[in-house]
Amino acid sequence: ADRLSATQEQTLAMVKPDALKNFGAILGAVEAAGFTVGRLRMCQLTPAIAQGFYAVHADRPFFGPLTKFMSSGRIVAMELVAPGAIRKWRDLLGPTNSATARQEAPSSLRARFGSDNTRNACHGSDAPETAAQESAFFFNRSIGRCCSGSNTTLAL
Ligand code: PPS
Repeated sequence: ADRLSATQEQTLAMVKPDALKNFGAILGAVEAAGFTVGRLRMCQLTPAIAQGFYAVHADRPFFGPLTKFMSSGRIVAMELVAPGAIRKWRDLLGPTNSATARQEAPSSLRARFGSDNTRNACHGSDAPETAAQESAFFFNRSIGRCCSGSNTTLAL
């Protein structure tokens, strides 16, 4: 058991607003690929929360459209656990741009469920440090307005 758990890695996956309608198929792909789902949360990000999540891209021209889109509907954030989970999930996602993904990785999730550079179905952490940060971003805050009652807005 020790040897097995030592190989485990965790990544933060997000199903973006454009792909929430495909959550079932995406979860099926997650399971078929052998991930274990850790914590999971469905909520709608406020614009401020989306800006916080993508703060590293604040100076990029796509920051406004990206954060507006990411706060336009509900998302699902989930911790995925597997050996080499970070790379494994990004491989399953395919290239950032869904149009490129359709050319280069037609069976990838972004090819199947995304549209373009912004509406690209899913997010995945790019390194162990960001996986830990992004996981804390979603799960180390009070449940508060995220999951209680009918209010599904994740706010600061
Ligand atoms: S980069 O350039 O490598 O830092 O960017 P990348 O990791 O590929 O993408 C970061 C997130 O920004 C979004 N993105 C864009 N949106 C709109 N227009 C353009 N040109 C664009 N390029 C990147 C992209 O959807 C990425 O979101 P996440 O959630 O990280 O997948």
